Amino acid sequence: MPNLAAANTIYRTDYTSPPFLIDTIELDFELEPQRTTVINKMQVRRNPEAKYSPKFQLDGEVLQLISLHLDGMPYKNVQIDETGLTLYEVPDAFELTITSACEPANNTSLMGLYLSNGHFFTQCEAQGFRKITYFLDRPDVMARYTVTLRANKTAYPILLSNGNLIESGDLADGKHYAKWHDPFAKPSYLFALVAAQLVALEERITTRSGAQKLLQVWVEAHDLDKTRHAMDSLIHAIQWDEARFGLELDLERFMLVAVSDFNMGAMENKGLNIFNTQYVLANPQTATDIDYTNIEAVVGHEYFHNWTGNRVTCRDWFQLSLKEGLTVFRDQEFSADMAAADAVNAAAARANQRIENVRILQQTQFTEDAGPMAHPVRPESYVEINNFYTATVYEKGAEVVRMYQTLLGREGFRQGMDLYFQRHDGQAVTCDDFRQAMADANQRDLTQFEGWYSQLGTPYVSVRTRYDEAAQTYAVTLAQHHKPAPNALQVVRAPLLIPFALGLVDTNGQDLALQLDNENAPGAATRMLELSAAEQTFCFINVRRRPVPSLLRDFSAPVIVEYDYTDDELIFLLAHDSDPFNRWAAGQQLATRTLLTHARQAENTQLNTHETNPALIEAFGSVLRNPTLTPAFRAQVLTLPTEAYLAEHMDEANPAAVHAARQNLRVQLANALSDDWFAIYAQHQTPGPYQPTPAAMGQRALKNLALSYLTDSEHTERTLHLAQTQYDTANNMSDRGAALSALIHLGGELAQAALTDFYQRFENEPLAIDKWFAFQARQTRAEMDVINVVRTLLRHPAFTSKNPNRVRALIFSFISGNPAQFHAPHGAGYTLWAEQVLALDTLNPQLAARLARLLERWRKFIPPLREQMHKALETVLASAQSKDVREIIHKALL
Ligand code: PHE
Ligand code: ZN
Repeated sequence: MPNLAAANTIYRTDYTSPPFLIDTIELDFELEPQRTTVINKMQVRRNPEAKYSPKFQLDGEVLQLISLHLDGMPYKNVQIDETGLTLYEVPDAFELTITSACEPANNTSLMGLYLSNGHFFTQCEAQGFRKITYFLDRPDVMARYTVTLRANKTAYPILLSNGNLIESGDLADGKHYAKWHDPFAKPSYLFALVAAQLVALEERITTRSGAQKLLQVWVEAHDLDKTRHAMDSLIHAIQWDEARFGLELDLERFMLVAVSDFNMGAMENKGLNIFNTQYVLANPQTATDIDYTNIEAVVGHEYFHNWTGNRVTCRDWFQLSLKEGLTVFRDQEFSADMAAADAVNAAAARANQRIENVRILQQTQFTEDAGPMAHPVRPESYVEINNFYTATVYEKGAEVVRMYQTLLGREGFRQGMDLYFQRHDGQAVTCDDFRQAMADANQRDLTQFEGWYSQLGTPYVSVRTRYDEAAQTYAVTLAQHHKPAPNALQVVRAPLLIPFALGLVDTNGQDLALQLDNENAPGAATRMLELSAAEQTFCFINVRRRPVPSLLRDFSAPVIVEYDYTDDELIFLLAHDSDPFNRWAAGQQLATRTLLTHARQAENTQLNTHETNPALIEAFGSVLRNPTLTPAFRAQVLTLPTEAYLAEHMDEANPAAVHAARQNLRVQLANALSDDWFAIYAQHQTPGPYQPTPAAMGQRALKNLALSYLTDSEHTERTLHLAQTQYDTANNMSDRGAALSALIHLGGELAQAALTDFYQRFENEPLAIDKWFAFQARQTRAEMDVINVVRTLLRHPAFTSKNPNRVRALIFSFISGNPAQFHAPHGAGYTLWAEQVLALDTLNPQLAARLARLLERWRKFIPPLREQMHKALETVLASAQSKDVREIIHKALL
């Protein structure tokens, strides 16, 4: 398909303003599952700012056009094709009424209007509105919506749309209607409707200006007992945005709705956020600590979009990170503030959040940046925009926003935000507009900062240090560079502005007060160096002994630091660094180094299973036993880098070798520290009712990590007993899930019995059944053939490809969470992958493309695997239909 790129690629620099604007739209839905009729009345006028266009083109896909009237008269000067309608010779301002029909029951893509559990939902971002009606489906066309919904009252008693309910009542034939008006102009991607049988948890709150607001969390009746946490999270998010950014809720009511079938996490439709059930529903029996944490973050995220995304939106989809990077940053800060507020040790709680965020960035975004889908935070081109909801746009985008705050300070950042809203409220703008607001509010030239939006790839900062004992100076040289871009992508490179936080740790473990050679007094212990050239040297004076540098504290920029620490220096930093993030990072680097050495040994010879790094075990042991460190932090340090992360750091990824090395180190840590693990296990119980507080979560994280290590120790019987008891007596899913996964790892009859019990216990809780699938897909027992387990589960009556959560639980968990088994040498994993991508390709292209991406790094692997992956990619290329999947495969094979 050599012509794919040429024919279908959309380029950022091709942007032009819309030739027409639509000020208001009245939508009238006659909701029927097989065929829904939509009457769409729009007030249209020429855009005075745009180039004159003789024709008016509307987007529309898979719609049946029933009638079209211009200013009340049938209009015939129209052409239809599969992408939409073209009207010729239209006046400068007119009313257009289009009646069309769509087929929700046949819509498996989960874009546009579709059914889930027999109820109506919509998903419009990015380009789903065109599957509902003909429109200018682009974010820079903002209209005021009035929406009337008609449907059978028994089947769909609840009718919701954006904004405020202005009318409702009964109709003939058992139907009823509701009319909604959204007072804020919005782009079509923020439109939503729901017609369903639901109940709501409600709260009334008063915002800081004294306004009364109605908050609702809509779910199916049997899930009402799982809504409290989402509601609390929403209330906290509202309060936080007022306190931290002075931003208030602008609507009289704010609704969250849970839906079981959803491609993403959640969607910020104005006043009517629609959520994947996974990010709303929680009670102690069904949800883990991680679920509780994710719900708080995603509820916050969608709520924060109300200002960063909805009030100020994106001019075009290349600016996606304008709203997503900023909103991820805001949700990260929200979660950190919430965790810190509840914690005994606020700094530790914040560091814990930061570690989690950076772990995700390093595992997903750094990998993306090194592969065929590498793109800048503001991409230059795409074939299918759905493929660009990526770790780069979201997670790297959030780091880019964080750097403004790092460079300008919290106050300066707040002033930049204030100016951004002052200038752009109600507008569709670009990443440059955001940067300009930050610059102007702080009288700072941020021209160079543009590179963070336009350059792809992860920057490297290599560090050289020179201690001059006689002069008592310590010179730190920072040099920035990039690895060559993958696939020979052409990139222009210029030095970036990199905030680089540094500390110098004295031999006694204390931070030095830092003094640069041009300063007359020592200052703070952490210095924010600004690296703006290709290479710069910073010279510290009055340094009495050679210190150990603590580099990139709190991960002040999304870069990879290169510095030749000795093992002893890493052990020293792990024990002493005042920056908890770098303490963790030192431990991870030490573990990574050891694991990669062992992986190479495992490749060549048999890995000597007794060989290890005793200093590493001792260092990790001291952290584990250190009562001044929070349990959450200790759990972070003792969690080894994932196999995927390690494989990415080999010259040629060898999943089997990585697995052998990591498993070996786990066994060593399990046995050498077994007394500690048993003691930790006993000490960190959380008796009493389940509480999702940071402290209790930390206790459970460390206790369950102990259990997990013990399953790899010599003490099998004792561990089996602990796991079985924990499984039987758990009052929450974190503990029961961890116990089940321990039992599965230990294997045998008890594991089978627990799996059966778990299934029966949660038969009516789809989110728990997802976990049941995922635990089995992730099991790593060497003697298990997990591909066959997965194949068997694909035939289980509870498995369906139509539910994205179920697909992710079984198939994605296996492929990305179980690399050694997936990449088994016989290649059966790749056959499974190809089969599943093609099965999803016609059903749900978006999900299919995400699955397709799991093989995009094929070139990174050892030759025998690489060759088989190549074949699987060719198989998919031969039959894939969707442009979503074709774009991914095409780029992977370039
Ligand atoms: N905009 C959503 C969010 O980040 C994500 C999303 C994208 C959801 C596309 C659905 C479809 O919150
Ligand atoms: Zn978002």
